[in-house]
Amino acid sequence: MTSLIMIFGATGDLAKRKLFPSLYRLFEKGKLNKFAVVGVARRSLSTEEFQHSVKDSVLSALGKKDRIDEFISHFYYQSHDVSDSNSYAMLKNLADEIDERYQLEGNRIFYLAMAPEFFGTIALHLKSDKLTEVKGYKRLVIEKPFGHDLASAIELNKQIRSAFLEKEVYRIDHYLGKEMVRNIEVIRFANAIFEPLWNNRYISNIQITSSEVLGVEERGRYYETSGALRDMLQNHMMQMVALLAMEPPINLSTDEIRSEKVRVFRALRTVEGEQVNEYFVRGQYGEGTVEDVQVPAYREETMVDKESNTETFVAGKIMIDNFRWAGVPFYIRTGKRMSTKSTKIVIQFKDIPMNLYYQTEKMLNPNLLVIHIQPEEGITLHLNAKKAGGHLDAQEVKLSFANTGIHAMNTPEGYEKLLLDCMRGDATNFTHWDEVAYSWSFVDKISAVWESTKADYFPNYQSGTMGPKEVDELLEKDGYFWWPVT
Ligand code: BG6
Repeated sequence: MTSLIMIFGATGDLAKRKLFPSLYRLFEKGKLNKFAVVGVARRSLSTEEFQHSVKDSVLSALGKKDRIDEFISHFYYQSHDVSDSNSYAMLKNLADEIDERYQLEGNRIFYLAMAPEFFGTIALHLKSDKLTEVKGYKRLVIEKPFGHDLASAIELNKQIRSAFLEKEVYRIDHYLGKEMVRNIEVIRFANAIFEPLWNNRYISNIQITSSEVLGVEERGRYYETSGALRDMLQNHMMQMVALLAMEPPINLSTDEIRSEKVRVFRALRTVEGEQVNEYFVRGQYGEGTVEDVQVPAYREETMVDKESNTETFVAGKIMIDNFRWAGVPFYIRTGKRMSTKSTKIVIQFKDIPMNLYYQTEKMLNPNLLVIHIQPEEGITLHLNAKKAGGHLDAQEVKLSFANTGIHAMNTPEGYEKLLLDCMRGDATNFTHWDEVAYSWSFVDKISAVWESTKADYFPNYQSGTMGPKEVDELLEKDGYFWWPVT
């Protein structure tokens, strides 16, 4: 790949923890033929100092690396003021010069890995100060959050679209870089035994859990304005729902896949007003013990209001009102300071019409297909089979496939795949504007209710648990329960 990558926010956490190590891995694998990186941030640093910090980040993420000095020699630094045209003029000169030196064919990727309030300003300046006037391609990679609600997302999109075409905008949802999230469509569409069953005739419900043990850490200021609904549900959880629910695309092109996902968003049942508390449950962590460590309540964290109304947990029932999914609940739950770090999808199939084996000590389990997203990566199919040696007793057996077991290696970092996709010009695993807009309009109706009613019952779950007890009731009302995720 041949490209100049300009990273705004190059001294930030994301660049250090994810972007530099991912770029190194691509470099090591020979995926970056001609490239240079211009790091941009407010702080004043020399290029040498910047190169050192890149080296530190790569070495601490990946251990000793032989080609690290060669790698960092491709890095440059420019201290920058995001609202000053002179600053962009200097950046343009540097970029043009580097483009020439490395023969980068005018290909340019602008990666915004910084505070979202500047996304729009930067996009506008890139155009007005002519950094986007290149003879190769120009692409904008933009981190979340993409707006705070539908209205602000529309505004931001307008600013971005005045400088870039929709097909040049790569909105990151890092869950779409995860190996097993990408595997959902292959499991569905490459197996004759699943697709015919993938509908309301055979599936009773789908459960998606993404639990974290970490608390809000140093991000109190951002999180107070976001909460779990905007931080996790609007993007990552909704993306997984769309991939599980979409119709088979006519081919695997970016446009076809995205348009099938958009059709799922269009079929979401709107939940508003009084229904919100019937379909959704919010929670906020109190103190407790997580992995044997005593931790404080959310309201005691730094930069968090002592009476904060912000949810650190959200669970809900999402209904997709179309022919395939009518009547099948998609239950989702996600939160911080839960008992375990795990992302899993459980597809529960309907019970067989009649149980011939129920005279055995327990009832038959339904068939489950479990997709393990993280930390393990794989799939498990739960079946019933005859207990060896017994009379005709049925027992549950599990067929498992684990990525690590088969490929004997850790799969590449999500960011590595997303960066490569962007350089290749493949936007399939990035979110299209229509997906963002539909998903905000779904979420906005929930936040409208929650923001206007104080949760005087907060904190309502202890750190180190799986959330408030109402979360179990959400499923019990429908005759189901959460399958354990550990
Ligand atoms: C981010 C959220 O998008 O996803 C974080 O802002 C969250 O709050 C993170 O911790 C979870 O990602 P992962 O890959 O660890 O599941």
